[in-house]
Amino acid sequence: MTEKEGSLTLPERTQEIAGKTFMGFIHDRNSQGNTYFSDRKEYLWLFKTHSSMKIDVIVGLQWGDEGKGKIVDYLATQYDMVCRFQGGPNAGHTLKFDGKKFVLHTIPSGIFRADLQNLIGNGVVIDPITLEKEIAELQSTGLSFLDRLFVAHKAHLILPTHRLLDAASEASKGAAKIGSTLRGIGPTYMDKTGRNGLRVGDVFAPDFMDKYQTLKEKHLNLASMYPAIDFNLEAEETKWFASLECLRSLQHVDGEYFVNQALDAGKRLLAEGAQGSMLDIDFGTYPYVTSSNTITAGLCTGLGVAPKRVGKVIGITKAYCTRVGSGPFPSELHDEEGEALRAAGHEFGATTGRPRRCGWIDLPQLKYTIMLNGVDEIAITKVDVLNSFASLKAATHYQIDGKETDAIPFEMVEGMPMSYREFSGWMEDTASCQQREQLPAALQDYLLFLEKTLATPIKYISTGPERQALIIS
Ligand code: IMP
Repeated sequence: MTEKEGSLTLPERTQEIAGKTFMGFIHDRNSQGNTYFSDRKEYLWLFKTHSSMKIDVIVGLQWGDEGKGKIVDYLATQYDMVCRFQGGPNAGHTLKFDGKKFVLHTIPSGIFRADLQNLIGNGVVIDPITLEKEIAELQSTGLSFLDRLFVAHKAHLILPTHRLLDAASEASKGAAKIGSTLRGIGPTYMDKTGRNGLRVGDVFAPDFMDKYQTLKEKHLNLASMYPAIDFNLEAEETKWFASLECLRSLQHVDGEYFVNQALDAGKRLLAEGAQGSMLDIDFGTYPYVTSSNTITAGLCTGLGVAPKRVGKVIGITKAYCTRVGSGPFPSELHDEEGEALRAAGHEFGATTGRPRRCGWIDLPQLKYTIMLNGVDEIAITKVDVLNSFASLKAATHYQIDGKETDAIPFEMVEGMPMSYREFSGWMEDTASCQQREQLPAALQDYLLFLEKTLATPIKYISTGPERQALIIS
């Protein structure tokens, strides 16, 4: 009988162990030993039990910036590998510990946990310049991680001219601009689906320079359709080619085999979403969205994992709501309460530094994204930001044609009227609370109302930016 670690093996011959005859064995992923079976029925039962290793996922339920980095970093201790599956350096996952702040753009948030593997999956778009900078910054902290960082061959590359096109396209749109992070995300995904893109694996090909030049020429032709913008292409190309050395030196894998073999071997995997579900290319507030599938389904194409292997889905929301960039945001506050949320929550973009738009939590919007993602558990972040509010609100319905509805309309529009429910604030510090029962009563009421309305349990309550400010309920 042949055995490949972690795989199921049908018998080539029967085995005799302790006087009993067995047909074969199945590798037991939990005990890392073998479970022997004596007939086909037993084998089928064992197969069903043992092929059930699944990948869990964390997704943002709003317009991004929900605090995924902190929750991934916390949960990472329960996993063997964290995988990014979409987006690129438009993301900014912030983690705070030991009094220091770290912002990750491309590298998964599991990187700070020793022994944990981290994969940049095929669905991610990579700017080698940003990646090299991120690696250097992490290395300067003394963290050792290069032996734990893997890059999928099939991930697409962001070229300097993708950033040029992003900037030119946005500038040409005037007031109708998307509010892009200008990291070249849209043009790179356009080349991916247009079948013109360059992938990580291409950097080793002998004709790489020819491919690069062809794509660059195409981009320059396209850019000539837009009004000229200030962009030093030569300088950016010099940096880009220099950074390819770093990219080439990393560990490259066939991401789809890497992930599936890890699952077969019984490893526990967590997929880390970037951006939020309302920025999803298909189901977000189109066209004010990003260019990838940010919802749970995106992990299947972004990592090469079959849908039946998707396990627990953790959805993250802030206790209020923010959005950065253009596009509708019905529960946005344009008054001093919005200003107070921005100030208390330090609501400035982790990637661009832009002030985030702030407003109340939007329950129809959350019901929609909970449905799209199949959320099992909610993580709610930044509840401490509301500590100094005498009262707060939650948007319960949209008002369309004079009627209340909680269905997301085809086109969400700026300033859509909403119905709200008001809650008393708690006006208390939550820093010392270690359990849900210790939280102020008014906050417990608010959480319970959210759970009931969203019909989903709140499992994690984040009461501050630091690692330990997290209640598991
Ligand atoms: P792009 O993905 O950079 O093209 O930006 C498209 C839209 O998504 C803009 O409104 C951005 O502000 C927004 N966006 C992109 N990435 C993030 C993120 O990580 N957090 C929040 N908003 C984002």
